[in-house]
Amino acid sequence: MDGDALPGAGPAGGDGLGPDVGPADGPGDHYFSARPASADERRTLAVHLAGRDLQVETAGGVFSPGRLDLGTEVLLRTVPDPPPSGDLLDLGCGWGPVTLTLALLSPDATVWAVDVNERALDLVRRNAARLGLTRVRAVTPDDVPDDVALAALWSNPPIRVGKAALHEMLLRWLPRLAPGADAHLVVQRNLGADSLQRWLADALASSTPPDGVPASFDVDRVASAKGFRVLRVARG
Ligand SMILES: C[S@@+](CC[C@H](N)C(=O)[O-])C[C@H]1O[C@@H](n2cnc3c(N)ncnc32)[C@H](O)[C@@H]1O
Repeated sequence: MDGDALPGAGPAGGDGLGPDVGPADGPGDHYFSARPASADERRTLAVHLAGRDLQVETAGGVFSPGRLDLGTEVLLRTVPDPPPSGDLLDLGCGWGPVTLTLALLSPDATVWAVDVNERALDLVRRNAARLGLTRVRAVTPDDVPDDVALAALWSNPPIRVGKAALHEMLLRWLPRLAPGADAHLVVQRNLGADSLQRWLADALASSTPPDGVPASFDVDRVASAKGFRVLRVARG
């Protein structure tokens, strides 16, 4: 497929490329299930994050358990270093490559690792604990306090949840950027990165941030590699 449209609803499967992406381990089991039905078999994965060689724990029923997703890799090598303090958010954390990178680079920041998949949240908690990253808070979306304003947001978002759910999720979190803060999102070109960029620019122009401070948002493509786009959303 080489289209420019987000799928209306997607099958289980990864949002990146590669053989280990998208563990559709059972009927109705998606990496974005709250409680995956597949066996919770833990495994150890060797990864390179924030300049370090690490061992992390992964499991079936979460996104890309067998390797660092290619889109995530593109995101992590594109983004500028995160702010050293404040509240940073990884939207859709999976087993935690983005969260762990944020927390390793900014150990004094609070890193919110947000996911709807409870197995993913357990994994990211265990991975953070193993690395001594005590400022990681792995929670469901409703458990992020309303008064948290984000100093940065990084995400490999779940395109395959479908366009409506994806849009709702992005409009829930991007307006929570603090004035002057940036978000970086990686999206596969074939899964609608360019149309998502246009949609974001329109939708954010008419959004009202929860802090009530008038805002403008710029949406740019800051990188394109290996079939992925990295979009930056900058709050003015
Ligand atoms: C493409 S995966 C990325 C996982 C991880 N960040 C990585 O790079 O390997 C997207 C993640 O978003 C999660 N997700 C789906 N719907 C969500 C929602 N409404 N809010 C937060 N996370 C969600 C999925 O469970 C999945 O773990």
